[in-house]
Amino acid sequence: MDRSQAKSRIEMLSKQLNEHNYRYYVLDNPSISDYEFDQLLKELESLEEKYPDLAVEDSPTQRVGGQITKKFNTVRHKYPMFSLGNTYSKEELQDFDARIRKSIENDFDYVCELKFDGVAIGITYRNGRLVQAVTRGDGVQGDEVTNNVKTIRSIPLRIYADDLPEEFEVRAEVIMPHKSFIRLNDGKQKNNEPLFANPRNAASGSLKLQDSSLVAKRNLDCYVYGLLGENLPFQSHFENLEKARSWGFKVAALTQKCFDIEEVMQFIEKVEKHRNNLPYDIDGIVIKVNGYRIQEQLGFTSKFPRWAISYKYKAEQGVTRLLDVAYQVGRTGAVTPVAILEPVLVAGTTVKRASLYNADKMDELDLHYNDTVHIEKGGEIIPKIVDVNTELRQKESKKIYYTTHCPECKTKLIRNEGEAVHYCPNSENCPPQIQGKIEHFISRRAMNIEGLGEGRIEVLIQNNLIKNIADLYDLKYEQLLGLEKIITDEITGKQKKISFREKTVNNILNAISISRNIPFERVLYALGIRYLGETGAKKLARNFESIDEIRNSGIEELVAVPEIGERIAGSILDYFNDEQNNIIVDRLIEAGLNFRTETTTPAEQGSQTLEGKSFVVSGVFEYYSRNQIKELIEQKGGKNVSSLSSKTDFLLAGDKMGPEKKKKAEELKIPIISEDDFKKMIE
Ligand code: IVH
Repeated sequence: MDRSQAKSRIEMLSKQLNEHNYRYYVLDNPSISDYEFDQLLKELESLEEKYPDLAVEDSPTQRVGGQITKKFNTVRHKYPMFSLGNTYSKEELQDFDARIRKSIENDFDYVCELKFDGVAIGITYRNGRLVQAVTRGDGVQGDEVTNNVKTIRSIPLRIYADDLPEEFEVRAEVIMPHKSFIRLNDGKQKNNEPLFANPRNAASGSLKLQDSSLVAKRNLDCYVYGLLGENLPFQSHFENLEKARSWGFKVAALTQKCFDIEEVMQFIEKVEKHRNNLPYDIDGIVIKVNGYRIQEQLGFTSKFPRWAISYKYKAEQGVTRLLDVAYQVGRTGAVTPVAILEPVLVAGTTVKRASLYNADKMDELDLHYNDTVHIEKGGEIIPKIVDVNTELRQKESKKIYYTTHCPECKTKLIRNEGEAVHYCPNSENCPPQIQGKIEHFISRRAMNIEGLGEGRIEVLIQNNLIKNIADLYDLKYEQLLGLEKIITDEITGKQKKISFREKTVNNILNAISISRNIPFERVLYALGIRYLGETGAKKLARNFESIDEIRNSGIEELVAVPEIGERIAGSILDYFNDEQNNIIVDRLIEAGLNFRTETTTPAEQGSQTLEGKSFVVSGVFEYYSRNQIKELIEQKGGKNVSSLSSKTDFLLAGDKMGPEKKKKAEELKIPIISEDDFKKMIE
């Protein structure tokens, strides 16, 4: 194919892919299979790789992201982003209508829309191309998150229509659908990472990620609720929204023009019935006057438009009885109270537990056994107790006091001055703390030791094989082989057998062994020093050469490090004042973990055996997991790439690799290597 043929093929493929993308993500009505879509996308990718100057910024290949935004630019909104006045009462809606009718003589329509619970965004298009996306910020200026927004597949990057204004802005809400939210938090839970409390926080956190390829994986969605510009097709809101729909934007099907406030009320009731079946969160309905002329006549108060209001649904509440309070102990020893409730159905799910946060919150509620409590399911994952009906309290029922001793190891709890949380100080012997610390140590962002999930740590602790993180490095093949345990899933009640067979044991020991290459900053984070997060650990590793320098530092030297405040510094000192911790660290040093900042150049290290080489890793492997291989490639100075191109150095092929990959590698004359070849390369 020559250059001009490639050019027209690229244009053709882009158009087709945009159309299929629209059918899939906006209409939810695809006309080709995922496989066929991927084939078209791959063809476009390889053409763009061959002719990089023909690749355009809004190509469908850009959806996968890849651009890194170190710092988001602050951009002034061309049209300020107002917020809405809101109400929970139908009477106040009647007042809103009466106020408008008082100053407007002519008849007018309302438009009712869903009030999406996500993040507001303004997206500017010029000559049909998406040029800028800015968050709400303070309403006057916000953060430019264009690269991240471009990865959201329901937002068109390019619009082909002959009635487009030269420039216009859509106002929209970026949301995370329930399905994506659950998947995201499941993954986080597996990796021992903090969970997002609700889809809104998850959407907002995702839009602020620096790496747009991570945003692409979050499966965000976007609903348009407004159009702004000088030359819009219509002088009314509803008609412009319909126009936007025809240009390829996602506008909610539940958008309705209403003739009067009665019809608005009917819409509110209709949506309330469907609300729990929507695939995303809404927190109410927005009611807007349709005509722009009337909107202008009504104008704005200092904060809100007078022509729009939001009606919010009350949070779903339930009433039940408080049976008891249980206490959960986390890896740092923090103890959290949880209310045990008589099961009650709220908004379609059975609630048995509610969060009580801490001792102060419990005191504030003045809880007694058998109290009748009101629980509320807000955006948070676990419902909370909002109120106690004291009138229904039985005389003899006893007040519930915060526990004085650890529910697991019976040690007396401590509470530091000025803090709301109680701690169990028995960090070495308290079982959930032991388990929590080890789980944190092996988690993906710490030592990334795979194969020990799904209750395996528990089995090792119960068999007295490990009591702390250093014990992991003493584990022997013979000790692990043959271990097994039947566990019952807490939620489904299903029984599952965990067994340590030959392959599992090899994988575990391998993963432990490879973790010796994890850089100092991650080892520091993995130690699980209270309050020391990833950023703090990074800064420490950059400011001190070794763990011994940190151990020998005083408070002043520690707080001199950016991001390390007195609270973290105090916690680091506490950690190293404990002899047991020093013994563990010494054993880890002995085991060969990285406790020094890398100051040698890659060449001096002599271990950068894969320097500059790029790999595509595909299939299933015997000895390492795919993630371990990828980690090793990076540790040894190589690069992982996702698809084959003429620039790829090796295709590392495992079992079950697709024939397409093999064929392509042969065509491009890329060496195909096995796991054994790879092992030799890195040795
Ligand atoms: S219109 C001047 N319509 O609610 C009118 N906003 O309190 C400005 N929101 O941050 C907003 N769904 O992100 C409008 N259908 C909808 C909406 C909506 C959600 C959010 C919006 C804004 C907040 C306003």
